[in-house]
Amino acid sequence: MAKLDIGQLRMLEPHIVCLGSHPGIIQSILDFDYLAGRREPSISAIINSGRNVERYFFGKREVAVPVFQDMELLPEHIRSQANLFLNVFSGRRVINSSRAAMRHFPKLVGGVVFAEGLPEQHAIQLYNETEERGIWIVGGASVGVVIPNILKLGAIGGTQASQLNQSRLFTPGSVAVISSSGGMVNEIIRTVASSGQSLSFSLALGGERFPLVSPQVAFQAAEDDPQTQTIAYFGELGGQDEYVIVDMLKSGQISKPVIAYIAGAVADLFETPPQFGHAKAMATHADESARSKAEALRSVGAHVATRYGDFVKSIQELSHPLADVPDKLTDALVGRTPALFASTVSGDVGDDINILGRDLLDFAENNSFAHIAVSMFLGRDINSPELEKFVDFVLKLLVDHGPYVSGAVNTMVAARAGKDLVSSLASGLLTIGPRFGGAINQAAVTWLDGVASGQTPAAVVEELAKKRHRIAGIGHRKYRVDLPDPRVSRLLEFTDELKVKPYTSFALGVEAETTRKKGTLILNVDGAVAAVLLDLLAVGEGYSEDQLRSLTRTEFFNALFVLSRSVGFMAHYFDQVRLDEGLFRLSPDQVAYMYHDSEL
Ligand code: ACO
Ligand code: LMR
Repeated sequence: MAKLDIGQLRMLEPHIVCLGSHPGIIQSILDFDYLAGRREPSISAIINSGRNVERYFFGKREVAVPVFQDMELLPEHIRSQANLFLNVFSGRRVINSSRAAMRHFPKLVGGVVFAEGLPEQHAIQLYNETEERGIWIVGGASVGVVIPNILKLGAIGGTQASQLNQSRLFTPGSVAVISSSGGMVNEIIRTVASSGQSLSFSLALGGERFPLVSPQVAFQAAEDDPQTQTIAYFGELGGQDEYVIVDMLKSGQISKPVIAYIAGAVADLFETPPQFGHAKAMATHADESARSKAEALRSVGAHVATRYGDFVKSIQELSHPLADVPDKLTDALVGRTPALFASTVSGDVGDDINILGRDLLDFAENNSFAHIAVSMFLGRDINSPELEKFVDFVLKLLVDHGPYVSGAVNTMVAARAGKDLVSSLASGLLTIGPRFGGAINQAAVTWLDGVASGQTPAAVVEELAKKRHRIAGIGHRKYRVDLPDPRVSRLLEFTDELKVKPYTSFALGVEAETTRKKGTLILNVDGAVAAVLLDLLAVGEGYSEDQLRSLTRTEFFNALFVLSRSVGFMAHYFDQVRLDEGLFRLSPDQVAYMYHDSEL
């Protein structure tokens, strides 16, 4: 039988991964952490589709909790530290997500399943698997586990900061509250608190037919916990679990005083057994009735109240009240308003102007423009001098390529039409796209896919040719095998010192294939920048394949061309204004007329 070791949990630095997102519960856990004096939130990640981050308050400060689409995408440092999970997925998704947590988290101790309606077959399978792994899962339909000042894993104890305080979750005490009902567990916690006492821990078993942590395991946890002096138990009709507790009390396995209430005695008044709210709450045999279970517990020394009011009274009469503790400053957490935007890039608060958390003046004085630009694009201060040198070179190299190229032409046409600097620049920038300058990003996708597929460059070229797809980063109107682009070989030199350069090697492999077909299908500057940048980010900055892929989703790889060529476009704008040649207009002989060509 899996063991729930409360003492071990008290010693544990919790690293919780939320399977699914439930903003109210997550915020309450962060409030608990903050008020308990933790420096960092105990939740390290959320597995959910949708956003990349979710924003929560940690005290008054907003923090970003990273969100990952699935467990495979969790970074290694989160995966290797995760020791608890909170599963708030719907019932049918519980088994696979909990299994994934068991597979991926080597330090996993336990978890909570919040959903109601976990299929019974899944519950049994999960139970067996937790036994094999020697971990525990509380639930389904559980509001969780709480240990004052240490751990809040679920909605237990409340979701508002004021409720946490009123439940005395920051004053360790000696009453263990165990309940199958989530609503009642909070009610009883509050009764304990308002009687001037505190919890040693509390746990909601959940009202499912097969609770993954049984009352037996929970009682044993309370018995073994040195801080627990009394066990307060709220049970209900249905099931036989309480008879195991009876045996434990009879044999002395449970020696601590038990105060209990078993709900559902009213069921005896019905001719056919009524089903109460919880799946488990129905007595089909006499010994499953609330009355029989209460009597059995009473017969072995438990103090079992007949009415709920008497149960409350027995809690109030417990002889170990604690001194009143000063209110945690929960008021300070009330009325927090989320900011309209979040930024990881820069700020200007008071007299502190910063970029990526570093003083702007210091950052500007001590770094090259290339370092600043690429760090800001990536949202993190880069470390690798090779990457900085490469970016610096690219920014200079791609600055212009004559007035003939598409973007420069559009800038010049706009300038001659009398447009202003920004409009002329914009018309040039709007020309950057899949055929001109903006093929770097798609080339990066092709090199990434090619390397990941394990296929040879020849096979990839064939596949794309069959689909009649042009390969981004390949081909040039001017350059060909016997007239190479001088910029490309210079760009490739930046990988000379790299021991591994899979992306550059793959791009060159593709070029070898395409130039066999046609001499103009050389690796162009866009393709070369993409390949070298991928290798330098992977080697020098430790980017994983997934991280590189997520950069392509925002077109990061095109940014260097856009930035650099803006200089060229502006130069052409100034040039045209200086030369003042007037409005540009094509003459009729510069257009071919094809009105009668029915094929078009
Ligand atoms: N992949 C596969 N086949 C290609 C490619 C390519 N990237 N580029 C051209 N071809 C083929 C064409 O399908 C065509 O084949 P066909 O003769 O059998 O019909 C032939 O080569 C000639 O095509 P054109 O469009 O006439 O070639 P052009 O020299 O005008 O094109 C261009 C140059 C636009 C760059 C083209 O090669 C291309 O689209 N490349 C991919 C996009 C790209 O990398 N652009 C960035 C260029 S560098 C820069 O802008 C800074
Ligand atoms: C450029 O750098 O603009 C080019 O290589 C594109 C071109 O058409 O020459």
